[in-house]
Amino acid sequence: MTRSFPASFLWGSATAAYQIEGAAAEGGRTPSIWDTYSHTPGKTLNGDTGDVAADHYHRWPEDIAIMQQLGLQAYRFSISWSRVQPGGRGPLNAEGVAFYRGLVEALVAAGIRPVVTLYHWDLPQELEDEGGWANRETAYAFAEYARLMARELGDAITVWTTLNEPWCSAYLGYASGVHAPGRTEPAAALAAVHHLNLAHGLAATAIREELGEDAQLSITLNLHVIRPDDPSSEADQDAVRRIDGLANRVFLDPLLGAGYPQDVLDDVAHVSDFSFVQDGDTALIAQRLDVLGVNYYSTTRVRAFDGEGEPEQADGHGNSSATPWVGTEGKVEFVQQPGPYTAMGWNIDPQGMHDLLMRLHREHPGVPMMITENGAAFHDVVSADGAVRDRDRTQYLHDHIDAVGRAREDGADVRGYFVWSLLDNFEWGYGYDRRFGVVRVDYDTQQRVVKDSGWWYAQLIATGSLPAHDAIAPGPVHPR
Ligand code: FCB
Repeated sequence: MTRSFPASFLWGSATAAYQIEGAAAEGGRTPSIWDTYSHTPGKTLNGDTGDVAADHYHRWPEDIAIMQQLGLQAYRFSISWSRVQPGGRGPLNAEGVAFYRGLVEALVAAGIRPVVTLYHWDLPQELEDEGGWANRETAYAFAEYARLMARELGDAITVWTTLNEPWCSAYLGYASGVHAPGRTEPAAALAAVHHLNLAHGLAATAIREELGEDAQLSITLNLHVIRPDDPSSEADQDAVRRIDGLANRVFLDPLLGAGYPQDVLDDVAHVSDFSFVQDGDTALIAQRLDVLGVNYYSTTRVRAFDGEGEPEQADGHGNSSATPWVGTEGKVEFVQQPGPYTAMGWNIDPQGMHDLLMRLHREHPGVPMMITENGAAFHDVVSADGAVRDRDRTQYLHDHIDAVGRAREDGADVRGYFVWSLLDNFEWGYGYDRRFGVVRVDYDTQQRVVKDSGWWYAQLIATGSLPAHDAIAPGPVHPR
């Protein structure tokens, strides 16, 4: 049976500022924590940085033209905070604002809806110097920046996403240190969790104050699908509960009005007493969510640590020697997942997409969802004719979009899908070595070539129903 989607379903692609823009020191932009981190020797693969990236800052008209050619209906991008408000406080930088103004106007003119993310991990360095997300003041600075952006771009933006994947910002940034700012302070990571939640609530409030109740507010979470190694083991089920608390419920519960889960507070009591939560914070965080952004790539498998030897940490999600799972040391093991795997080492499990959407549907009915990221890195090969026949990526997209369609048919209110990513880009700690784009970027020439997966996606958008994974119609600039 062919899976089909209603005409109202929004098809888009996603990117993030630091991963594609380049022009790191142009137009008045000042460094973010990712500039500092990527320029620190040993932090990224091959010492790669986002200095040039996909040069989108200069090539955005071409990138919009490609989106148009693919028939994309929406584009999720992020604003570089330090480009529009250098240092993260004080007056706006007119040149930086003009860049995004030009971008959103051109998108709207091209019939592509701008879905903006205000924070995709690139905190202005000055704010990190004052404590970063471990400092409550950062949440207030973020809300002020959100308010200013609402004033500047409010007429053109379809959806305002406050934060992208606060799990990564908090735990990878402040506990395992495999992301900027590279700190390994478990208590600070928990403070960061709370200040990110608070930043979301304050920013949502500020945007609604500026734009009224009709402004569409969202947050994007990388919710984890956690499988017990032995489903019949109570101890393994408890390991799932712990990780679910830290990965999912510590965000979902306060955002959706239930406050912090007591079991999580108990689990991490030896690390933090959560005294950073002030009176009134719970209400501030729980602002109405018009749409929940869901990023999904793969699943996680855990079991209770039996106390023998070193706990296994084998899941390709940065759970190596330094674990981001605050307070679970000596209690939980991460177990190698069954394959197949992408070039990230992440297991491919489309059923996980269905499981996640159905869980959210069950536990939080009435909250519409959009898949704000899904996609796969593979080591692409450019054929002699210049084409990229990325069957593996197309298969991945096919199977995951099929799972989204199945979840919709089973009742989940999913309203859109954004492929990660439009372009090959700077994949954080993995630099330029991992390619997620449906459009190839040749980093020597900055030439863009639509991959077969991109043409396949264009076919899906044009027809509203899922083409076979190997059905690639020739595209207008790539006739074959
Ligand atoms: C997500 C990030 C995104 C990209 C993908 C592969 O965690 O939000 O920027 O790196 O993973």
